Amino acid sequence: MGGHVKAQALPPEVVSLDDHRTRALARLDPNAAAYLGSAAGDGHTADANRAAWDGLRLWPRVLQPLAGLHTQVELLGRRLAHPVLLAPLAYQRLFDDDGELASAIAAAAQGAGFALSTLSSVSLETVAAAVCGDAGRGPLWFQLYFQRDRGRTLDLVQRAEAAGYEALVFTVDAPVNGVRDGERRAGFRLPPGVIAANLPAAAGPASLAELLATAPGWADLDWLLGATRLPVLVKGVLHPADARAAVAAGAAGLIVSNHGGRTLDGAPATASALPAIVAAAGGAVPVLVDGGIRRGTDVLKALALGARAVLIGRPLVWGLASAGAMGVAHVIRLLRDELEAAMALCGLASLASLSRDLALSGHAVPQPPWRHQGN
Ligand SMILES: Cc1cc2nc3c(=O)[nH]c(=O)nc-3n(C[C@H](O)[C@H](O)[C@H](O)COP(=O)(O)O)c2cc1C
Repeated sequence: MGGHVKAQALPPEVVSLDDHRTRALARLDPNAAAYLGSAAGDGHTADANRAAWDGLRLWPRVLQPLAGLHTQVELLGRRLAHPVLLAPLAYQRLFDDDGELASAIAAAAQGAGFALSTLSSVSLETVAAAVCGDAGRGPLWFQLYFQRDRGRTLDLVQRAEAAGYEALVFTVDAPVNGVRDGERRAGFRLPPGVIAANLPAAAGPASLAELLATAPGWADLDWLLGATRLPVLVKGVLHPADARAAVAAGAAGLIVSNHGGRTLDGAPATASALPAIVAAAGGAVPVLVDGGIRRGTDVLKALALGARAVLIGRPLVWGLASAGAMGVAHVIRLLRDELEAAMALCGLASLASLSRDLALSGHAVPQPPWRHQGN
């Protein structure tokens, strides 16, 4: 990784996230492709994430005022240009020499929020230093995996605070790794030079017994909330009872996620889990969602179901592998442009107050009383 991020060109025929995927898969080595592509088990949950967004229908309203259409949303006291954030993804230097540095710069250039993984292959200080000075950037968050002891965890939290991160994303859905056949078949391993740059050199992977013994619990969330001045979002919530408990504990936000189907296969699709989590949160904190978001119409469906914003995981890597920072920026811009088109076609000039029956499942139809929109 050099002192600055490489410029890479993008061919004009790449016009969708799926085009980035095709291009990325042709360029990735089998080891990195196995890490990226693996879902847990038989991939039921990863497939369900996509199918659930596809199964929703948008019900457009016509003849609406559209002048001044914008995609802005409020999140944790900030006004964002649009509701698309980059999800925390480990070891991005597997996919591009600049790794997380390229993704973070692309996110900043596109006004997108960026969450850096604990398992980043570029140090959290290097990433923050590259983007913190950009006034137009989106929020910069640090995703926290609990370490074997609280001392090490606290060290990460304090480094993130000192470096300028604005929130912590506490990932709770991966106390152990999912069973990922693709990685095992490929014999996946980190190549030389790709390391967990935020962590001390590992003495070797933790044993299962060690992972289970040190898996975080609700008391650790309480501890974390007392140990940091940053807002804490809890990522990986699917059950409404857990959502309620996290809000009661003092979480600043919830991220409905099943880790892109990489942990528990058989877990519900995030689009299916989202409405109950929104109801359980009761408007007290923002609810975000990830998993299978591939189009601007998916973003609009997520917001209609009550999400404040969405995160994208694999598509960020497709962009990164396809054309480095340029590819990631392009992925974000495509989603944003598609969201704008979807809004206009649905008769929406803003995302402020979406009607729940904008997105209905299957053959459901809007029920009266109908709200007359427009003037
Ligand atoms: C290659 C890969 C690495 C990931 N690493 C992390 C991680 O380090 N921390 C985390 O909280 N989630 C991690 N995730 C989950 C993502 O943050 C996100 O929840 C998921 O990718 C969203 O689904 P999508 O890929 O369908 O958009 C990872 C996902 C992928 C695909």
